[in-house]
Amino acid sequence: MSKITVYPDNESLISGAADFIADAAVQALGARGRFTLALSGGHTPRPVYARLATAPYRDRIDWSKVEVFFGDERCVRPDDPQSNYLMVKTALFDEVPLPEANIHRIRGEEDPEQAAAAYAQELQRTFGGEAAAGGSPMEGFDLILLGMGDNGHTASLFPGLAVITETVRWVMAQYVEVAGMWRITLTPVVINAARQVAFLVSGANKAEMLRRVLEGPYQPVVLPSQIVKPTHGELHWLLDEPAAAKLRRES
Ligand code: 6PG
Repeated sequence: MSKITVYPDNESLISGAADFIADAAVQALGARGRFTLALSGGHTPRPVYARLATAPYRDRIDWSKVEVFFGDERCVRPDDPQSNYLMVKTALFDEVPLPEANIHRIRGEEDPEQAAAAYAQELQRTFGGEAAAGGSPMEGFDLILLGMGDNGHTASLFPGLAVITETVRWVMAQYVEVAGMWRITLTPVVINAARQVAFLVSGANKAEMLRRVLEGPYQPVVLPSQIVKPTHGELHWLLDEPAAAKLRRES
């Protein structure tokens, strides 16, 4: 199931996305006694994380039963301004009663390959399954948040990278030429095992790429966001009007 929701502006996208996440948390906590969430980096989600840390959202969620992971990380120290962990820490973690043990950050300051392997083991401890050819599948995340770059990348699945078509490993380290740095990212194996995946996309600068990703020919190696197709789960696109401006609309 794929659903597109368009909000009139960035402000209503922020509160709509905070509602969406809080609803998913309440639903998962009710059904399974825990909520497993993977967060995206970049600029778009930051005000959403900050909104989640305010009433009524923060009070709707039993943070003691929330497990937070990251969709990707830049290979920098956790106190580096480019760190996704640091961004979420200041916007959310420092503001809500989430136990430190429930925060599963990617260790961007360590050797990328070793940090990727360590993160795959951490996923295995939380979700079971086996990151091996023919291995038993992991229990999927309740919700994975993603963004989309104006080159069509998502998480750290950048155009042309091998990780886009990965079918076995759960986490990979890749040197990203356009970013000039190593990145560590969940692979499509984990992303497409999720119960829900939600893209947050805002701004006119994303409109042309969004049209190509949603309505253009299927070419995920060029447009990596197209590889996101949850096997049994739901795919949601939460957009603001400027980002959705070039999409075909039902009258
Ligand atoms: C990252 C993200 C990345 C992001 C897109 C969109 O680490 O940068 O995980 O995939 O979601 O680049 O970023 P913006 O929201 O800043 O446009």
